[in-house]
Amino acid sequence: MKAIILCAGEGTRMRPLTYTSAKHLIPIANKPVIFYSIEAIAQAGIKELGIVVSPHREEEFKLTVGDGSRWGMKISYILQRQPKGLAHAVSCAQEFIGREPFLVYLGDNLLENGVTDFVREFARGHANASLVLYEVEDPRSFGVAQLQDGQIIKVIEKPKDPPSNLAIVGVYLFDENIFEAIREIKPSWRDELEITDAIQRLIDKGYRVTPHLVQGWWKDVGKPDDMLHANRLLLERITPQIDGELDSRSQIKGRVQVASGAKIINSELRGPLIIGEGALVEDSFIGPFTAIGPRVIVRQSEIEYSIVMEGSHIEGVGRIDHSLIGRNVTISKKDRRPEALSFVLADNSQIKLI
Ligand code: G1P
Repeated sequence: MKAIILCAGEGTRMRPLTYTSAKHLIPIANKPVIFYSIEAIAQAGIKELGIVVSPHREEEFKLTVGDGSRWGMKISYILQRQPKGLAHAVSCAQEFIGREPFLVYLGDNLLENGVTDFVREFARGHANASLVLYEVEDPRSFGVAQLQDGQIIKVIEKPKDPPSNLAIVGVYLFDENIFEAIREIKPSWRDELEITDAIQRLIDKGYRVTPHLVQGWWKDVGKPDDMLHANRLLLERITPQIDGELDSRSQIKGRVQVASGAKIINSELRGPLIIGEGALVEDSFIGPFTAIGPRVIVRQSEIEYSIVMEGSHIEGVGRIDHSLIGRNVTISKKDRRPEALSFVLADNSQIKLI
């Protein structure tokens, strides 16, 4: 079986960060979002993966993700030249897929328990398609499925009046019939070929579409708040490990990872948190659910529930909470009065608080 990860979306809800980086390459717990889905796919035993990207992001993906050898798989890059929807993205991969069943993974989805059971169940059964479903309180911002006798009888995209509370997770299994269904659908109100409409087309044509309900958490990271929440969920399960240097005046509590080459001087680290390679934390407090990227410098500051990306420099800032800070950002403040600040800052931002 092959897999594709769809990453051609522009990530408009994550602007300004997505002006300089694809949403799927933003780090959560110091690892690009897409790495979690690649790991899940590799764990399910899939060895050939296609990543569907828009042409202007191709180089960035190739540089960050590579050829797949580090996960023991082969990764190819497939271009979606125009943003014409998820079903269109799937159709761009037809040549790569050929005629075998395949997994489709939306690159901004994270699943606590991976996709191994889903793939196994599909391989054992006789379905033409299978969807991962997740029970949510309010499914109106997702695709929604209606079940009958163990099969999916209806799917509808972002309904005002949902027929069930089963949201469609962005992970699907299809056989080759999906390509014909995609050719038969029309663009939706937002002028996109919707994957949900193609699945409804399969159902209408009498194909068997089965549900797979998941346990554990599921996160669709569309907005900065989702990124921070996913960061929290992933940090809650990191393995504590200190490879960097810690001086005698520093204190650590809870789940903490400090990568090699990082230095912690006269500071308090209260986990769950992660500090990247070569980072420096001096006279500071790093609080729970925070990811400090590689080569970040934090001095005389307090940071909590935040993501600070590679190469940024934060100095003399009272307290930063609930923030998403891009790469190579500088925030510095001359006098240090207690206060709390909150940011979403794209790469290369510079803030001086005087
Ligand atoms: C897409 C799908 C939707 C699904 C969701 C899961 O929505 O169209 O059916 O529930 O992903 O993440 P989008 O994120 O494109 O609005």
